[in-house]
Amino acid sequence: MTGITINLEGTGAIVTGAASGIGRATARVLAQAGAQVLACDRAKSVAEVAEAICAEGGVARHRVMDAGSEPDVAAAVAEAVETFGGLGVFHANAGITGGGLAIPMLETSVETWAEVLRVNLIGPFLAIKHAAPVMQAAGGGSIVLTASVAGMRANAGPAQYSASKAGVINLAQTAAYQLAESGVRVNAVCPGLIETEMTRPIYDYAKATGAGNRVGQLNPMRRGGEPEEIANAVLWLSSPLASYVNGQAVPVCGGLSAGHPYTPRTDTAKLMAAIAEQKAAQD
Ligand SMILES: NC(=O)c1ccc[n+]([C@@H]2O[C@H](COP(=O)([O-])OP(=O)(O)OC[C@H]3O[C@@H](n4cnc5c(N)ncnc54)[C@H](O)[C@@H]3O)[C@@H](O)[C@H]2O)c1
Repeated sequence: MTGITINLEGTGAIVTGAASGIGRATARVLAQAGAQVLACDRAKSVAEVAEAICAEGGVARHRVMDAGSEPDVAAAVAEAVETFGGLGVFHANAGITGGGLAIPMLETSVETWAEVLRVNLIGPFLAIKHAAPVMQAAGGGSIVLTASVAGMRANAGPAQYSASKAGVINLAQTAAYQLAESGVRVNAVCPGLIETEMTRPIYDYAKATGAGNRVGQLNPMRRGGEPEEIANAVLWLSSPLASYVNGQAVPVCGGLSAGHPYTPRTDTAKLMAAIAEQKAAQD
């Protein structure tokens, strides 16, 4: 008996938002599994990500592009097909928030909404639109969209962000049906709180106010996540090990989405004493 490994050798893969955070981690993990990766981002620093992967012995190229632009997504797919000989994996991951959670919906502009929906929701749609035909022609593939626990219910992001991510979850569900029997699976991954540039203000604020050790306390693991913990889930969804997983929104959030809001530091002994006291008063 040997251990199960994920081998994506010979698979062309595109990752958007690959210059930073979750996308950077996914590009690296897919390359470690043998995939040939086209790391895409609007930030020029995505070149360094591809260089670092190559320095570790992986195969990667980079492309500066806008994940919400149809010509840019189409060109990225064409580059992957031309240079890797095909496209088996597309991680549509680029995303923006359009402002912090504290910015009220009533003070948010239509322009902000439009830009967030363009990048976060139309971007994944374009990934499906241009990657799926190539994958179908080759007999199959896996498209993974980065949604968020913010798309499952309120309070994990500003309104435009949460609504865009709810749209991404439905997009994965709908695409799975529309691509039925084509061999192309479409799933969404729903990260909880992950330490990246996107969440830097939350971490910095917590540290500045002496509450650094309280970040992530609302989930049962009582910590924030690392980008690699999302990347590993994307790797699994991209691989034949997830061959029967389709149209799903997979939370990777330390259990945050499993429960209702609660008081993290409830002192159980005090709570039990209060209940006993209340019961004694009733007797
Ligand atoms: N960090 C979290 O806690 C968290 C939680 C849930 C979901 N997410 C989602 O994960 C994804 C990655 O976010 P992250 O946390 O790694 O943030 P990040 O800011 O570290 O990385 C996002 C990357 O996307 C790129 N990008 C933004 N707009 C783009 C565009 N139009 N075209 C191409 N590239 C673009 C940025 O340049 C950046 O490199 C996003 O979709 C985000 O919504 C993050």
